[in-house]
Amino acid sequence: MTSPIYVAYHSVDHDISFWQDALAPLLPGITLVTPDTPEAQEAEVMITWNPPEGMIAGLKNLKGVVSLAQGVDHVLNGKTFPTHLKFARLIDPYMSEAMAEWVMLTVLEYHRDAMAYRAAEKRHDWIRLAPRIAGRTTVAVMGLGAIGSVVAETLTHLKFNVIGWSRSEKSIPGVKSFHGDGGFKSCLNQADILVSILPLTAATANIYNAQHFAEMKQGAAFINAGRGKQVVEDDLIAAIDNGHLSGATLDVMVTEPLPQDHGFWDHPKINVWPHVSAQTNPETSGQQVAKAITDIREGRTPDNSVNVTRGY
Ligand code: GLV
Repeated sequence: MTSPIYVAYHSVDHDISFWQDALAPLLPGITLVTPDTPEAQEAEVMITWNPPEGMIAGLKNLKGVVSLAQGVDHVLNGKTFPTHLKFARLIDPYMSEAMAEWVMLTVLEYHRDAMAYRAAEKRHDWIRLAPRIAGRTTVAVMGLGAIGSVVAETLTHLKFNVIGWSRSEKSIPGVKSFHGDGGFKSCLNQADILVSILPLTAATANIYNAQHFAEMKQGAAFINAGRGKQVVEDDLIAAIDNGHLSGATLDVMVTEPLPQDHGFWDHPKINVWPHVSAQTNPETSGQQVAKAITDIREGRTPDNSVNVTRGY
């Protein structure tokens, strides 16, 4: 008999069996427990998506936390994170590929006028719009980390003119990369289609606002799969309604689920997705979660460790 390894579990998305079933074959003895149980006080690791403030600090035996997502703002932003804890996030190649698929889909919708053709179909209208050439269409990928670099590289295969921005300098074959404040503006100025997958930090909160939308090209499209709180939503609606931007496709919102009465739902030029561009998949990320749990329990720094001060 293996003695139980208690791991505290909290998620707003899935019940406990979702991860228990995925981790059990990988880590014999693992027993996920909810933070309100006595066993959770024995847990050395917590795996979580969007824990309420105080939950992590309330588990006194913890040595570390594993984010059940690529982003970590759901654990850090506006919440206390005890400084002695180790913290790992997911970097799952399958999730990066899923994100690249979603970005191809949404970029191609703009490039090939999918929305206009679907609307014409509803009117039984056989219209033909002028074609565009991928090589003359600039797609900017904002955020060139583990996910963004895969997205940018995948876009080059469709022959787009791909540029990108990240906080620190990056080099990706076929992608003209920019960094720093000046580089951010250059991307805004040049993009026909701007795709953002930035992490949410103090520096990126509300970064897509009236001033920055005004710096974008007339007729540009805005695609966001980073975090909703990076967008001043009323400013985005205004930039589309005054004709400066052609439209937006959003996978993330300031408030999720998107409130029933929110202006995005029925806006003819805004496409809403329910935060599914790159969903966490226990089948593909179970191995790294199991390894991070073991590393933390045994006192090692886990792979894909988060810099808590930097916020990603
Ligand atoms: C999803 O939003 C993630 O952070 O993985």
